[in-house]
Formats: sequence, structure tokens, C-alpha cells
Amino acid sequence: MQTKIIQIENEENKEEIRQAAEILKNGGLCAIPTETVYGLAANAFDGDAVERIFKAKGRPNDNPLIVHIAELSQLDTVARDIPKQALDLAEKYWPGPLTIVLPKGENIPREVSAGLDTVAVRMPSHPIASAIIKASGLPLAAPSANLSGSPSPTTAKHVIADLDGRVEGIVASTDCSVGVESTVVTLCTDTPRLLRPGAVTVEMLEEVLGRIDVDDAVLHQLKQGESAASPGMKYKHYAPKAQVFMIEGEREKYIEYVNKNAGEDDCALCFFEDAQKLRCKSVTYGKQSDEAEQAREIFDALRKLDEMGVKRAFAHAPSKSGVGLAVYNRLIRAAAFRVTEV
Ligand code: TXA
Ligand code: MG
Repeated sequence: MQTKIIQIENEENKEEIRQAAEILKNGGLCAIPTETVYGLAANAFDGDAVERIFKAKGRPNDNPLIVHIAELSQLDTVARDIPKQALDLAEKYWPGPLTIVLPKGENIPREVSAGLDTVAVRMPSHPIASAIIKASGLPLAAPSANLSGSPSPTTAKHVIADLDGRVEGIVASTDCSVGVESTVVTLCTDTPRLLRPGAVTVEMLEEVLGRIDVDDAVLHQLKQGESAASPGMKYKHYAPKAQVFMIEGEREKYIEYVNKNAGEDDCALCFFEDAQKLRCKSVTYGKQSDEAEQAREIFDALRKLDEMGVKRAFAHAPSKSGVGLAVYNRLIRAAAFRVTEV
């Protein structure tokens, strides 16, 4: 398939926004930028179009998609029995990197929710995403615009590398400002539960909801046969081809460990401040003191490891506080839960 690459600078590029919206209205697939990661969008009301997302990505079809809206008035068209807590969250954090799981509206086909009776909804803050949703007049189902299993795309180049030739359109724009996927919280449990950490932190959710639960799958591997509250959590995710090992400990100890263990084909995946004293190759993912920067850079860093043909990567573990929890959650999956304490 010939993929149309649509370059969009900003929401004033009305003709290009119209072209992207047209693809979506005609049942096609179009990748779009959002503030978190690029998404691969289709009309959320069109089961056949949504089905094609799974094929294009190679995504297991029991893993449901997030529905993206641009105005609060669209919420009623995709979800039902909306609790006040959802509106409180929306008021504080929408548009933004927060996904809320709610009872599914009847117009949302089972392809979107993978057969669940709930639906995940988010209102992105990216002006181009918002403009495309509005121009199409549709809620858009969109997972991250990567091939299933590879790191989520935070640049247009990542999307083109994964999806060129597999979808009708790719909107190419600037790099994503958040860099990790949205926080996912469900309001369909007795106590609200964090299913996936993101830039809207546990503390920020608790400001609105009071105490919330954090799903076990956020930091731990599911046991054999255990079912996932968020199906996406059970898959080996965000995996580069290199074998990643997560090393948890202070800088001196980390450096000592890597200098002792890393061979020729190995690489450190470390903080900016670590790099100087390491004797092996390194790819950095932000400053240790700046979790937002780590979030912005982590997926690109994982892709770089593959470009370099690295066999093993020793990753310096991020902190689990604030946005660091989201980075930790992605990295521990890239490392297939291999953690060494030093
Ligand atoms: O930031 C983001 O959320 C990006 C951009 C494109 O918006 N999208 C994204 O989609 O990360 P995806 O498909 O890669 O991740 C969706 C996650 C998965 O872990 C999935 O299992 C979970 O949301 N999810 C979707 N619907 C759900 C539901 N009804 N109940 C529980 N989890 C759900
Ligand atoms: Mg994804």
C-alpha cells in the first residue's frame, strides 16, 4: 500500500488536517501525533476500520484500544453511566495525558474494547490531534503507532520506520513532548485503580480521587495464568532486540558493575551524568535529576540500541517517584523483568 506522508507544522495547516480527517472518515488508518506518543487512528465507530489497526500493527486482538475525543460533549457518545469522578478528572487533567476506563457506550464496537464491557477514553492536548478529531467529527480509536512489541514512537521517523506501506496516512510532525503513553486509570472497580503509570502521576490522581489502588502489573510480572486488569500489561512490551538488564543502585555502584561486566558488543543505557565514567559504549536517556526528560527520551534510546546492533544493554534504573514510575514501568518491561541490585 502507498502511504501518504502528510507534513503538518501546526493546527493552521488546514488543508493537510482535512486530508488526514478525510482518510479517517473513509475508513482508513492514519497515524497522528499526540503529546504522549504518536497514535495509529481509525474511526472508533467503525469495527472494520478498527480491525485493520490490529492487522497493521500485528497487535493481539484481545488488547483493547483507547478512544480519543476532542470535546467533553463526545464523552456521552462513547461511554455510559459516567461517574462524577470522571468529570472531576476531566476538569483537572483533560485535555492531557490521562486515559479513563468507563462503562462502554453501545455505539462502540467490540473490536475497540476487545470484547470488554468497558472503554478507555482520553482527550489529547496536542493541537494537531485535537484539530484532526474535530475535522473528522469522529471519536478516534488509536493505539501507539508502532509495530506490536517494538518501542512506542515518539518521532515521525519512528512511525515511518514501523508503518510506512501498512497504513493510508502518516501525519509527520514534531517530537512528542511527554514521550511515554498516557496514564490509564479505571473507574470501573470499587476503588479507582491505576493500570498504567504516565505523566499524570499517582499523587495527581489522588488529589482528585482520594486513595487509589495501584495494579500489581504496574511493577510486577503477572504470574502464569493470572488475568490482567489491563490486557496491554501482560504482553512483553517496549522490547528492543537487545537484551536489556535493569541495574538498580547508586551511580558509583552502577558504574562499577557495568565497567566490570560489559563486553565489546554491550552498551550502557544510562543517565547523562553516568556516561563519562563508563568504559563501554553508552546511550543516555536524560539527566538523573529530570524524570520528565527521561520520559521524553526513553523510547528513542531503546530504538538507538537496535540501530547500534547492541547485544546486551545495562540500564541504570530510574526512580519510582512522580513520572519516574512511568519510565520504570516501561523499562522493566523492556528488560523482561530482569533486575539486578547493586
Ligand atoms: O498515550 C497514549 O495512551 C497513546 C496515545 C496514542 O494516545 N495510546 C496508547 O495506546 O498508548 P496503546 O494501545 O498502546 O495502549 C492502550 C492501553 C493498553 O495497555 C490497553 O490494555 C489499555 O490501554 N486499555 C484499553 N482499553 C482498556 C479497557 N477497557 N480496560 C483496561 N485497559 C484498557
Ligand atoms: Mg502501545
